[in-house]
Amino acid sequence: MKAKIKKIRFLSIIIFLAALIFLLIFILTKNKNNTSHTKNENSEKLILGFSQIGSESAWRTRNTQSIFEAAAENDIQIIFDDAQQKQENQLKAIRSFIVYQVDVIAFVPIVEDGWDNVLTEAKEAGIPVILVDRQINADPSLYAGFLGEDGLEEGRRAARFLLNKCRNRTGTVSIYEMSGTENSSVVRDRAKGFREVISADPKFQIIHSEDGDFLRSRGKEIAENLITSSRRKDGLYFEGQKIDAVYSHNDSMTLGMLDSIENYNVYTGNTIIISVDAEQKSIDALQAGKLNCVVECNPNLGPKLMELVKDIAEGKTIPRVTYNSETMFTENDDFSTYEPRGY
Ligand code: AHR
Repeated sequence: MKAKIKKIRFLSIIIFLAALIFLLIFILTKNKNNTSHTKNENSEKLILGFSQIGSESAWRTRNTQSIFEAAAENDIQIIFDDAQQKQENQLKAIRSFIVYQVDVIAFVPIVEDGWDNVLTEAKEAGIPVILVDRQINADPSLYAGFLGEDGLEEGRRAARFLLNKCRNRTGTVSIYEMSGTENSSVVRDRAKGFREVISADPKFQIIHSEDGDFLRSRGKEIAENLITSSRRKDGLYFEGQKIDAVYSHNDSMTLGMLDSIENYNVYTGNTIIISVDAEQKSIDALQAGKLNCVVECNPNLGPKLMELVKDIAEGKTIPRVTYNSETMFTENDDFSTYEPRGY
């Protein structure tokens, strides 16, 4: 009987100990979960709503990549929207960022006008806005600042190259311009800066300006139309007039134009071709003697953008305008010094 009682006591102790261990494990696990929950709350990431206009060029693709890379490096979460080249999609995206209550909104305005209402909504919601790559026509109090290229200077650089290249030339220099997306700030600035410089000498005449929408397909089509309507292989002509120089607002259109020049076997050795962006393919074309000058437009805006986002989030005032550093590449360069462009 005594032995039986001893056995029952022993079993009770074992059950009690097992229950105690179970309870301890439960409490420890619960506390651990509570700790990580509090940590998550304290280390909430900054959220950036970013509306990109699309992926019309290698430049644009690199621009998007740069922003994603820098966001990851800075532990900033991006809510991304690709507007597929439509302003209405950008307006919708910005409104959805407001509903989501992101910390900062950044967007590439496809055109200059039509942003006042949506930016007023962002302002009323207390969400600061940064313009990226392109500028807008709106009350400056509706956005914190602009980060991007100096389009005016890009246009001036293109024109200075042309002026220098033609310094010993007499007679008219007929220029054909292929411009990018209509009503965009970058097109306005590249056109303005170019005209400002060539106006110094009346021999420089823009004989035609054609909208190529920044697309390779349009550049190809534009050149094809010039070639088939002139039916000449000794150069490019517009309505019977020889084109001495082409000023193309981006590499995609320039590369499209070169496609047609090659397809139709047209001789353009005497045609001065100037492009903007400096994608690897156009640098290759420059080195191959197919282009004369490429003005850089720097798409790597990510690192600076994240700096601005963090400054704004800390309540600092950011500069109204931040330009990225840019250079140019010409036929006169020592090509052996060129670094790969990476896009
Ligand atoms: O706004 C910058 C321009 O847009 C780039 O030059 C062009 O390639 C892009 O599509």
